Amino acid sequence: MLPDTTGTIVMDLSQEVTIPPKIGGLSKAEVEDIITASIEAGVPQDGTPAYFDWESKHYNITPDNVARAAFLKNLVRENLDWIGLTRDNRSAKVLDYGAGTGLLSRAFLPHVRQVLAIDNSCGMVDQYNKIAAASKQESPGCEMRAVHGDLIDRYDLRLALDSEIADPDGDYQSFDLVVMCLAIDCFITDAPSEDQYMELINALDILVDRMNNDGVLVIVEIEKFYADADYASEALLDGRKETGHGSREVMAALNEVGMEDTAVIEDQDFKVDMELFGQRRSRHEKYFMVRAKKGEEGLEW
Ligand SMILES: C[S@@+](CC[C@H](N)C(=O)[O-])C[C@H]1O[C@@H](n2cnc3c(N)ncnc32)[C@H](O)[C@@H]1O
Repeated sequence: MLPDTTGTIVMDLSQEVTIPPKIGGLSKAEVEDIITASIEAGVPQDGTPAYFDWESKHYNITPDNVARAAFLKNLVRENLDWIGLTRDNRSAKVLDYGAGTGLLSRAFLPHVRQVLAIDNSCGMVDQYNKIAAASKQESPGCEMRAVHGDLIDRYDLRLALDSEIADPDGDYQSFDLVVMCLAIDCFITDAPSEDQYMELINALDILVDRMNNDGVLVIVEIEKFYADADYASEALLDGRKETGHGSREVMAALNEVGMEDTAVIEDQDFKVDMELFGQRRSRHEKYFMVRAKKGEEGLEW
């Protein structure tokens, strides 16, 4: 499926995105009202499903996510060959894991046959499916839908997707492509450590299990600067985050689970200028995109 490239590829596709004056058909005042109402609901900012249920209400209309949707569309479109998708054959079946409202799903949708998503927040799944219904006209002939589930179940909430119940037709198997954006840092949230690295390997292995031999895994994340922080910091320095797994760990973990042809596109600058609540803010994040192919034989653990 992949073109014959190995090792590390470094490309400079820096792009700046400025958001339109109206966001998703809403005025700035309307967006601010929705965010204020969400904040007043007072949910703990802890990255649990309850937090993402709350975030789902305004996720799609915050200026940075509107801009990130455009950034991801561009990143995928510019790198279709590198990912292994051909321009004239939309036959791939894709799993978007930790899909949220589907920003990455919509970046892939025009280039594939089907995007199935899993998220462990019911709120995110509801929003995803509303957007999927609306996008039917945009991309006729391809399907996009989400189910509530947790293949990794870090909180041990017994949300693991039961294939008998949530997936009666067995659709959530045999993927040509598994994609993730900003998901790894959610299901592995503590400071970098040996345990965290083992959790990453375990999570990737679970996802690789759902792939066809020859399938491809694509991970889009914010780069890390490997500080010695002993807590889950969201701090950014020159667009890089202080804690979590960076391209180096992700690539090493992919090799560990037997993936091949691992390669990375580094230093994708995402910059957005926005004005909200009367204040101008700039956001700068540095993304990487890793891709790896499942070997013909797969790997038996
Ligand atoms: C930061 S959001 C990213 C959403 C989306 N991929 C995007 O780029 O906009 C992380 C998402 O991962 C989901 N998530 C976190 N842990 C998960 C898990 N163990 N299983 C499934 N989804 C999870 C959250 O509910 C949330 O929707």
